[in-house]
Amino acid sequence: NYPDYIWLKEVGPRDGLQNEEAFIETDDKVKWINMLSESGIDEIEYSSFVHPKWIPQLRDAREVGRKIKRNKNVFYSALVPNLKGLEHALEVGIDGASIFMSVSETHNKKNINKSISETYPVLYEVIKEAKQANKYVTGYVSTVFDCPYEGKVDPEHVIRVCNQLMEDGVDAISFGDTIGTAVPSQVEALLERMLTEFSSEQLIMHFHDTRGMAIANILTSLRYGITRFDSSVGGLGGCPYARGAAGNVATNDVLYLLHGLGIKTGIKEDKMQQAALFIQDKIGKKLPSKTVASQAND
Ligand code: HMG
Ligand code: MG
Repeated sequence: NYPDYIWLKEVGPRDGLQNEEAFIETDDKVKWINMLSESGIDEIEYSSFVHPKWIPQLRDAREVGRKIKRNKNVFYSALVPNLKGLEHALEVGIDGASIFMSVSETHNKKNINKSISETYPVLYEVIKEAKQANKYVTGYVSTVFDCPYEGKVDPEHVIRVCNQLMEDGVDAISFGDTIGTAVPSQVEALLERMLTEFSSEQLIMHFHDTRGMAIANILTSLRYGITRFDSSVGGLGGCPYARGAAGNVATNDVLYLLHGLGIKTGIKEDKMQQAALFIQDKIGKKLPSKTVASQAND
């Protein structure tokens, strides 16, 4: 039995673009996000309020936030690493804040320049401020299956991090297969354990598609009643602090799967195809999604 409806979060404008070498002009980003807003998607992570030296591709986050046309049916979120990022995001407008950390010490250090224990108090402040501003807070937890530096990750370790973030006040956790290496048995093991502590409504799956396993992993998650997934139009992107990691699972591929299974998303596939072709043209290289490529030939 699958869920009837799936909430998709489009992360292309954040996770996708942060790993593309090209800087996409602000006005093109805005046009593209507006196209995505018209597709019927529930949520868009429109940018990242991190240090511009770390992610120069998204240094125009504030301008993007100011210029995009807000569709009342879309929930707009953004990535924030600390209070400064949250301040910038609140200034231009967000519905939700996404904080992030890694369960792996090494990956966390490389990604946000702090140990795990140094990260909690920073995130606690962000969660507190965001909740005071009445914002929904999602906690991304990275490298929940495999870490590029530390290898296999124990679900008990993931639980400890999630419990801390939940105690600190996040509304939901997004589990990151940051390097896209997990197979369905790992997803089963993680979800079996997580669902003893949390409800399926609190859990979001965030798969990268490095080994082509993301669709199989989503199907597995559906069987556990997971109703929220992150994806990136065309499969754009990757992780700049995890070498060789490919983009997120392509929104277009996920739609093909879900709609084929009779599961609703509210998204129009042709609009998502147009959004994929638009950004493919701007980055000047072929996007990895097979659905996008085959629909372009139809
Ligand atoms: P730091 O250098 O340790 O920061 O970086 P700091 O607090 O020591 O501050 C240093 C300077 O940065 C100060 O300026 C701050 O004001 C400034 P100075 O006084 O020297 O002039 N600063 C900022 N400026 C703008 N915006 C800010 C900000 N914060 C401080 N928000 C920091 C720490 C976290 C900021 C840095 O490491 C950083 O920006 N990291 C971002 C890394 C990143 O974006 N990674 C990719 C996203 S995570 C991901 O992709 C995984 C995910 O998709 C899930 C998955 O796939 O698993 C979510
Ligand atoms: Mg990611």
